[in-house]
Amino acid sequence: MRVTINQIKEMKQKGEKITMLTAYDYSTARIVDEVGIPLILVGDSLGMVVLGYESTIPVTMDDMLHHTKAVVRGTRQAMVIGDMPFMTYHLSVEDALRNAARFIQEGGAQAVKLEGGVTVAERVRRIVDCGIPVMGHIGLTPQSIHQLGGFKVQGKSPETASKLVNDAQALEQAGAFAIVLETVPAQLGAFITQSTSIPTIGIGAGIDCDGQVQVINDILGSFIDFVPKHAKQYAKLADIIRSAVTEYHNEVKAGGFPTDKQSSFMDESILAELTKA
Ligand code: KIV
Repeated sequence: MRVTINQIKEMKQKGEKITMLTAYDYSTARIVDEVGIPLILVGDSLGMVVLGYESTIPVTMDDMLHHTKAVVRGTRQAMVIGDMPFMTYHLSVEDALRNAARFIQEGGAQAVKLEGGVTVAERVRRIVDCGIPVMGHIGLTPQSIHQLGGFKVQGKSPETASKLVNDAQALEQAGAFAIVLETVPAQLGAFITQSTSIPTIGIGAGIDCDGQVQVINDILGSFIDFVPKHAKQYAKLADIIRSAVTEYHNEVKAGGFPTDKQSSFMDESILAELTKA
């Protein structure tokens, strides 16, 4: 049985911290699921850390469904959340419903996430009305990076802080089961967390959020373009990969790989027959 939205909401009520991580492929998702992480986000961050784009904007529904299916195949207990890409929920309610449904029906996800507050609240309500759990996402919303003018801390002025409080309330009222708070001052993260009854999942939003989310490549140290301020590297996978690949490269060139251990052999008499002919 997979984690449900009620279990996630109960975790907030009990004061139990909620862990969420991204995953984009079968093998990684299996490990994250085995550890017991309750929420796995197939984030559109895959555009940057898997596909090598400069932002999340070029990511398509097809990209997202391809990776969501792989993550779902690798998991048994986690709730898998599909991240709705840029312009797949903006044009019309019909578009938003169709694309949200594709994540559930074709991708096998149990929920979707979309960016925005007051402006998308009606879309959120309509998706929830169809029986699809929705996670909101406010603060630094990477799909609006050109509008925001870069990866900057959001909500530092009285106006922008109160706009984010309103956004959180609008999402709660629209039926979202949780909200990602990205790159906002820690005090604002704490305030929004106290003033909403649904869980807040922070990324660069301080210690007082109900849960935390990170891009898995950032915490594993496998994405080498830059390390975001909000990320802590729990491993330096890029160094491990570089060293293993170098050793393999050197052994193949020197004739040291494969050895007998990685090879299989046939009966010598069959070989003798073959070479006689
Ligand atoms: O795409 C993503 O990975 C995200 C998280 C950073 C919350 O939206």
